[in-house]
Amino acid sequence: MYFTKYPHRANFSFPQGFDPEGRTLEINGQSFRGEVASYEGDVYHVRVTNDARWDGNKCLESLILPPPSERHRLKAIENFELQLLGRNGSPILRSVAGEGFGVCGKAHLFQFEVGEEPRFYGMGEKNFATFELSGYRTKYWNTDVWGDFSASQWGDGPVDPPYFATPYLVVKTGDEYIGLLLHNPYATFMETPGIDESRVFVEWQRTSNHLIVGSEDGEPNLWVLYGPSLRELTQKLQKLVGVTPVPPLWSLGYHQSRWGYAGHDDLMDLDAQFERHKIPCDSLWMDLDYMDGYRIFKTSETAFPGGATVTAAALEKNGRRIVPILDPGVKFEPGYAVYEDGHKQDVFCRNAEGKEFVGLVWPGETVFPDFSQGRPRTWWAGYVYHFAREGFGGTWLDMNDPSTGPVDPQGMLFNEGKEPHAAYHNQYALGMQMATHEGFLQAKPNERPFILSRSGFIGSSKHAAIWTGDNLSNYFYLKASIPTSLGLSLSGLPFNGPDLGGFGGDVTDDLMVDWTKAGFLFPFLRNHCGRGQRPQEPFNFPAPVMGVLRRYIRLRYKLLPYLYNLFVQQEATGDPIMRPLLYEFEDAGLDRIDDQFLIGPSVLQAPFIDKDQKTRTVILPGSEPWYDATNGDWVEPGTVKVKKGRETTPLYVRCGAILPMQPGTPTDNRKELREVHFHLFIPPTWSGETELEYVADDGLTFDYRNGARSTLRVTAVSVDGNLAIRAQQTANGFGAINPTFVVHGEPKSVRVNGADVAMNGGKVVLTGKPLDVKVLG
Ligand code: GLC
Repeated sequence: MYFTKYPHRANFSFPQGFDPEGRTLEINGQSFRGEVASYEGDVYHVRVTNDARWDGNKCLESLILPPPSERHRLKAIENFELQLLGRNGSPILRSVAGEGFGVCGKAHLFQFEVGEEPRFYGMGEKNFATFELSGYRTKYWNTDVWGDFSASQWGDGPVDPPYFATPYLVVKTGDEYIGLLLHNPYATFMETPGIDESRVFVEWQRTSNHLIVGSEDGEPNLWVLYGPSLRELTQKLQKLVGVTPVPPLWSLGYHQSRWGYAGHDDLMDLDAQFERHKIPCDSLWMDLDYMDGYRIFKTSETAFPGGATVTAAALEKNGRRIVPILDPGVKFEPGYAVYEDGHKQDVFCRNAEGKEFVGLVWPGETVFPDFSQGRPRTWWAGYVYHFAREGFGGTWLDMNDPSTGPVDPQGMLFNEGKEPHAAYHNQYALGMQMATHEGFLQAKPNERPFILSRSGFIGSSKHAAIWTGDNLSNYFYLKASIPTSLGLSLSGLPFNGPDLGGFGGDVTDDLMVDWTKAGFLFPFLRNHCGRGQRPQEPFNFPAPVMGVLRRYIRLRYKLLPYLYNLFVQQEATGDPIMRPLLYEFEDAGLDRIDDQFLIGPSVLQAPFIDKDQKTRTVILPGSEPWYDATNGDWVEPGTVKVKKGRETTPLYVRCGAILPMQPGTPTDNRKELREVHFHLFIPPTWSGETELEYVADDGLTFDYRNGARSTLRVTAVSVDGNLAIRAQQTANGFGAINPTFVVHGEPKSVRVNGADVAMNGGKVVLTGKPLDVKVLG
């Protein structure tokens, strides 16, 4: 298997007939069964079976199916050609005539024609640095990027495939959106039509004129989802693959990591520094060095002389947690208890000789638990159980691509050597996540586990947050982080983010500032860097730089109630946290924006992400004015030019938004979701209505599932600047929510729950100067 080469359609055979009644198609004299099943919400499953060619679907996680439906917007016609009918009844996606579905040995592909000027998005984790994805040829094969590509390749350009396989594509045609999901764990591939001249110097380097999706092996299972809007499409996808359960509140805070922290003393020192500098930080991460010689589940006594529980208890004072790394590879070392036990229990992957497969990772010769099977997963969960009780707050799963160093991973076989590597390669990390999740639940049954993972597959959204792997401290990676995270967010992986500041290379003061301003509201926020690189903790920068970093970390904490509620909403509806502008607005001209994004429906960011850039244009969509968080001005929609400021970043709030925030300026981790300031963004002469359903719970346990959650419904009606606010607590399971209302604007009059209230002048700092506000009550 070459992970950078792709099957070519000319090698495939295509059907010579299809009998829709008998659901059979003929290819090269062989008979296949082909069917299209329909589920509620215009979700379709295209499945082709042939027992001689493919085993059944080998995905570890099943999709979560809506009820079956009789409706058939997607039809299979002659030669098993597919047609998806759009809103007006004509096809918006159709198979290429005569070549809609093809096979070549165990490989298969689907070829489609899409309507005029199609646009493509999603693709899971890709590092192409463009939001719109026309003209790409790409593969899905989880890869340890720095291990498998040379530094000159990942230096400052995109490499593919990266760590995480989600073979999902969003297709836009006209104003309708379609999703294509390959529920197939083998190496899968896609080609989107379109031309990028910069990547083409001979004709055959162009991608096909057609949209191609397929797999090198495995039963063909293509899911076709019809939006029609991007919001409806994304909600359907997220529910199909599994929403992300609302994470613990602390995991939405700021995380400080670095490969090189040696243990107890370093963590205590970090703790003191964050306290001294009044920078909120919820967790301190431990990389490889907490282990005894890279032996997993064996904490070094040098790193934690009293055991990690002692350090964890000391950090509890400031509400900080320790999050250690966990690699899957077990040091191949007779005498090492974890290896001995795994060997005895026969939980490791095998090679073609029936022996334990050995790769070369951090500990040297390394064996790998077989996460494709239930028994080894249970074995792993048992170790995680003890690990979680050692005082660790969560964990960080790395090298689970699986990385085998210079050893070809294809030699790693699954299920006692009976299953080929390719069947589970892309699912290795998923199996590890499932087992780790289980172990944390066993250790702390009522606590929401927090797991971060580098690699994964469809279904990972239920178990783990993801970070986008090893990046570099340069402007390419800063810029690319926006489209990469947007792509993930549209592909069913809402809890994601990059290593803030960059993992490799020395960050500059300017880059750290620019990255923090751009990234401080990403769904996951961790500052992490590699061994030997310039330290990236905020207090290791000159005071003025630290001041800016601190300001934005504090602003994230101020906005935590908003972020948390977006995660609550995501669990209920499937809406992602980070959104492209066209998620919320239908204006023309939004379909190729790489450098702007929304956090939830109401916060728009347009950061400076080019080196030495002094001014930039910002597109403010829709028909209503936007609130400029830097100076409090209301700005008409359209295109505006902004100047870069040392402390500021272009951030705009949507007209009519109600943003729940923490009071004041947070200087530590304390969070109380019931003490909340609702900031209303209402232009002075605006007439309109707006509402928010705000949720508060303990942010930690599963008690919210048994009713321990409170809800406050806030509505605001403005008639020519006369404002009437209603606040009604509609659920009380977590006690009373105590709201304060803060109005950004100059209302002529205000009533709260029918009574006149005083408007007291106040100041609030967001991204710029202190803003004049009215505090009610
Ligand atoms: C990998 C990870 C990185 C980690 C390093 C050492 O490169 O991606 O985050 O710091 O391994 O464990």
